[in-house]
Amino acid sequence: MAVWGQQFKWNAQRKYSLGARCVAVLSVITAVISLTANPAQSESKAFVLQVPPALRESGLLKHILPRFSLKTGVRITMVAPDETADLAMTETPQGLALFEGLQKIWYLNNAEVAHPGVERFTTWLRSEVGLRTIVNFKVDGVSLFQVATPKDVVEQAATFSGDAIAGAQLSKLHCSRCHAVSEATRMTSIGSTPSFFILRSFSDWDARFLSFYALNPHPAFTQVADVTEPFDPSRPSPIVPLELTLGDLEAIVAYVDGLPPADLGSDLIHQ
Ligand code: HEC
Repeated sequence: MAVWGQQFKWNAQRKYSLGARCVAVLSVITAVISLTANPAQSESKAFVLQVPPALRESGLLKHILPRFSLKTGVRITMVAPDETADLAMTETPQGLALFEGLQKIWYLNNAEVAHPGVERFTTWLRSEVGLRTIVNFKVDGVSLFQVATPKDVVEQAATFSGDAIAGAQLSKLHCSRCHAVSEATRMTSIGSTPSFFILRSFSDWDARFLSFYALNPHPAFTQVADVTEPFDPSRPSPIVPLELTLGDLEAIVAYVDGLPPADLGSDLIHQ
């Protein structure tokens, strides 16, 4: 104790006697020490997160994880659902309901573990900034994920099993010639044709989409494999025919299901 006390006094005296230059050097050293200490600290906060393949393929985590890590210095490694992890995102209704999208509600399991990185991530995901980051993830200008509310849990039964991401691409490919199918295709569509946002706001929107090929004006130019009759040779399609399968249509319906229905206030924006 005595030696340490003396040394401290000596250090203190020396520091003051050497003046401002030495203070500057000391603060550089302190900065270097805190810089080198940080990686070790975030290393201990790093954790492993299970992510189901559908969620991983959606691109959502590639969007949110770097933003989270940049902000917090916590590194997250993604693994498949059958691998060991500290935390799991799952579609099994268990743990915290996080957000909904791709016709499912997504949960965070094992979020209670006492791990500084996991705690940080869980808090961030449920914060205003985290939720905004999730909703801001868009494919073709449309948010694929929304914040989960208890009401969604009940509505989940009435959703569709198609591949919504494929549906987004198919809608763009086949329907955006005439319809606004996303914010991004608003300008390429025909103004007088109802947008998908407007169609989505009808209570029977799903019946209309599932049978669109039989509803005017589509029969004149649409062929659904194994469903529609070939065009009458005396009345060929007046435009490049629209050809798709029932699987394609299911995907489109799954995509439209996730679109925000237009309300009266946003009609003008979407039209
Ligand atoms: C060549 C232009 C064109 C293409 C391509 C097109 N549509 Fe349409 N669609 C229209 C028009 C025009 C209407 C409005 C018809 C009306 O109001 O009578 C319409 C209406 C609809 C309706 C509402 C039908 C009703 O009677 O309620 C649905 C659903 C629909 N389209 C789905 C689709 C889907 C899905 C695709 C792509 C796979 C598609 N459309 C491609 C022109 C098109």
